[in-house]
Amino acid sequence: MAKIIIDTKIEASEQKKISKHIYDHFAEHLGRCIYDGIWVGEDSSIPNTNGIRNDIVHALKKIRIPNLRWPGGCFADEYHWKDGVGSREDRPRRINTHWGGVIENNHFGTHEFLELCEQLDCEPYICGNVGSGTIEEMSQWIEYITFEGNSTITELRKKNGREKPWRIKYWGVGNENWGCGGHMTADYYSDLFLRYSTNCKNLSGSKLYKVACGPVGEFPLDWVLQWVETVMKKTSIATLFSPLIHGLSLHYYTRVGAQPATVMNEKRWTVAMERALYMDKLLSEINIIMDKYDKSKKIEIIVDEWGAWWGNENNTNPWFFYQQNTIASALIASLHLDIFHKHCARVHMANLAQTVNVLQSIVLTKEEEMLLTPTYHVFDMYKVHQDSMLLPIKIESENYKHGRRTIPVINGSASVDSDNQMHISLSNINPSQDVDTEIQFNDFNLENCELTAKILRSEQLNAHNTFEAPETVKPEKYVKENFNIRGSNIFFKMPSKAILVIQLK
Ligand code: AHR
Repeated sequence: MAKIIIDTKIEASEQKKISKHIYDHFAEHLGRCIYDGIWVGEDSSIPNTNGIRNDIVHALKKIRIPNLRWPGGCFADEYHWKDGVGSREDRPRRINTHWGGVIENNHFGTHEFLELCEQLDCEPYICGNVGSGTIEEMSQWIEYITFEGNSTITELRKKNGREKPWRIKYWGVGNENWGCGGHMTADYYSDLFLRYSTNCKNLSGSKLYKVACGPVGEFPLDWVLQWVETVMKKTSIATLFSPLIHGLSLHYYTRVGAQPATVMNEKRWTVAMERALYMDKLLSEINIIMDKYDKSKKIEIIVDEWGAWWGNENNTNPWFFYQQNTIASALIASLHLDIFHKHCARVHMANLAQTVNVLQSIVLTKEEEMLLTPTYHVFDMYKVHQDSMLLPIKIESENYKHGRRTIPVINGSASVDSDNQMHISLSNINPSQDVDTEIQFNDFNLENCELTAKILRSEQLNAHNTFEAPETVKPEKYVKENFNIRGSNIFFKMPSKAILVIQLK
């Protein structure tokens, strides 16, 4: 049994918006995400526009991708932007030391990335190099992209074919600088952050939103909170005079061992769900520390890497992280999105890792073929929450127990959009049992409401889409007859291993 109580009357002062940027994505120069993924080159027989695959652009536009983070990841802290501009044949070939030592030909650089964002109609989010790059290099990259006037740097941009500057807001000042981005202490990084951030200038009317490197959630909680405390203490004081920090990043992967995603049993399932739910605790604890230095929540949490991290598919490059994506991955996504909604007063952005062919991808490609993963469908179903108002929700759920682990089976969130349509998203993470569910509304009569619903579910624990059977897991209508509506209550059975989005208008 589960009972869900939704409050529909919220005081204006209590209203919280679910930022559309909770639905952002991340694409790194890693494995087959960029090359042999998004970028096929202008001469490819695969339909493309200026080298960028049309089918991928079409798929991402459909889910209304708000922003894309690039070029890494660990790759960002060894990336030198000047390598990726100018004639492609003349661009230097470098070693991608983090990801398999493959040769990076730099064919996909600043112009190609910003063109991709234009094709996607989404905002760019660039992560600058603190680990091995200079302040001068980072500030010149910003000048190259955003400055309207005629400087030596912008003349180079014009010579490279772009007269007008681009607009960019989101700017990362380093990535995982406690690890692949330089193995720094929180103290040392915070000092560096202030120097780099001071030199990331707002040019030609642009207003950068600068993101400092935060912790990784898989590390012990004490360390996580210590990192947050140090960065907040050192940088929020400086912000009293001029805004140097706007966001603090958090990375957290749901890691569940070295077996491929499709190897699934109830034990592994429970571990995966429990680890996904840990995001809620992480955000609550981090928020307490941030509140100490920033009560008004001006500095936001940017979860710019998250998602399931299974073992690689057999016979693939171990550094390419090519992974299948199952109904469990879809549930990991829905749990996270609902948790981000709950914390939307502090969480401004979240970027799923990584868009194409790497980790928890939303699309997979094989030569000219492309498939949509179960996770893609979650983003499609959930896009209705983008920029909507969060509705307070209380969920009383039965638990599922496996060994020493216990997880609440029904999880979810609710919002109301600008057209006054309400959306309730629910996940049943019980691997085998349907759950009798009741939704009760405070102060809301369902009499004149039209109810529609979509569901993503499967019979098998490891259900997934393949190039041979690309529609094994896909959303269906969950017809009205499944619901029993009485007064201000809705009764229904929530199927096992399912994600349901109900719309009321
Ligand atoms: O997403 C893969 C890698 O995971 C990223 O490059 C890094 O930031 C993280 O450790």
